[in-house]
Amino acid sequence: MQRRDFLRSACQACAALALVPLAAGSLESCASGLAVTDGLLRFPKSSMGKDGTAVIKAKGAPHPVMVVQRPDGTYTALALNCPHKNGPVKNKGGVLTCDWHGSTFDREGQVTKGPSKAGLKRYPVEAVGEELMVRFA
Ligand code: FES
Repeated sequence: MQRRDFLRSACQACAALALVPLAAGSLESCASGLAVTDGLLRFPKSSMGKDGTAVIKAKGAPHPVMVVQRPDGTYTALALNCPHKNGPVKNKGGVLTCDWHGSTFDREGQVTKGPSKAGLKRYPVEAVGEELMVRFA
């Protein structure tokens, strides 16, 4: 599947289901229609957006995650679930923001503004060929 086709179908599904609202002007990529198997979520590297992120809502995952490509080329996956009181966290112009009480987090999931005292949960991501694999278990 070509990147364009993948993104078109994945983003249409996101928008249709309102699982991952896309902010106007956001460069983030989104993906859905994916599933976690044996604690592992696989998806193509080509689903990463130009800003080096992809928001993924996958069946069987504990919550949506944002996969982030670091400057050194490695990846991490951040739970889009606020550690304060489990509010939804969204990427708002590059700032990960909790809708409920306004905590913010950086691209590594570290707290940049409370009330949350803890950072976002991170999951390891392995790159194998043209695939990325997020390990939930
Ligand atoms: S639940 Fe996120 S700041 Fe309170």
